[in-house]
Amino acid sequence: MKSVNYLLFIWIIGIILSDACEAKAQSSINQPVSDRFKPGETWPDSNGNHIQAHGGGIIKIKKSYFWYGEQRGNGLDPKYRYVSCYSSKDLLNWKFRGNVVKMLPPDSLSSNWVLERPKVFYNAATKKYVMYSHVDDRNYKVAQVGIATCDTPDGTFKFVRRFRPLGHESRDIGQFIDDDGTAYLVFEDRPFGFRIARLSDDYMDVEKEMTLVKAHMEGGAIVHYNGLYYSIGSALTGWNANPNKYSTAPSLEGPWSDFKDIAPVKTNTYGSQSTMLIKVVGSKKSTVIFMGDIWKPKTQYDSRYIWMPLEIGDGKLWLPEPRPWKLNIKTGEATILF
Ligand code: DGJ
Repeated sequence: MKSVNYLLFIWIIGIILSDACEAKAQSSINQPVSDRFKPGETWPDSNGNHIQAHGGGIIKIKKSYFWYGEQRGNGLDPKYRYVSCYSSKDLLNWKFRGNVVKMLPPDSLSSNWVLERPKVFYNAATKKYVMYSHVDDRNYKVAQVGIATCDTPDGTFKFVRRFRPLGHESRDIGQFIDDDGTAYLVFEDRPFGFRIARLSDDYMDVEKEMTLVKAHMEGGAIVHYNGLYYSIGSALTGWNANPNKYSTAPSLEGPWSDFKDIAPVKTNTYGSQSTMLIKVVGSKKSTVIFMGDIWKPKTQYDSRYIWMPLEIGDGKLWLPEPRPWKLNIKTGEATILF
């Protein structure tokens, strides 16, 4: 009897140990934790898959960041358009929350349609997540924004409507939330330049133009830093990288200064194109991160990212040469490594 009890004991311990080992193995598969940004390299999410959030935008809800972007994991499905959602507490380690848009072309758009550069705003009054995106046909002649909404950050967004903001052509879009919480859309208006316009109170419309910047630029992004507005953007060269530039203004209405290079011209912004500027306000300092896409139109799934902390202040902005770097999300301090 004693030996039967002994065998039973060994067997139970064996089960517990093997469960514990499996759980450990699982957690190391599911949560590879990284301590540094590696611009230009593949960027694994918590499942080990390269992050698919191209032309993206980020919002912060309480202590979590949500990153939305073009899902190109399976190339660009001509029938459906996918928008992915990831979440993170430190802007570095991201969990895939699912594809929040998996949409057929809205109404009369041809099946060869385009949905690019999704940007999500959270409206505290209506408690809705409102997604803007560039909606077009394959020839980029429709030039509209589409709106889709959801009650949660990672649920399925429902398409609401598409239109030209304030009646203007709109291709690449960018989002900007000012320090006072006001939400703006940046949109490229091909015949004229790019515009910055305030959203309506419920974010379901583009309500008031703040400025028309008469510069033909796309990939537009804005940050408000130490009392000055900085806007950046790229030239219009399709998927090919070009020297991105910046301008400054004391208010969104302008006047906007002449555009200057953000990096050595010959590097073509180190092969990337701007999509957003994120300001991390920490206990010790505020760091502004340049978020750029390295497009690979022939191998979409392998398109990469360049995120780097900018040298910014007193009307100057500079993108340092991409190198690994660390961010202390609490203090806001960024350290560029070797
Ligand atoms: C450049 C834009 O920035 C991208 O979003 C995309 O529209 C490509 N052009 C298409 O060529």
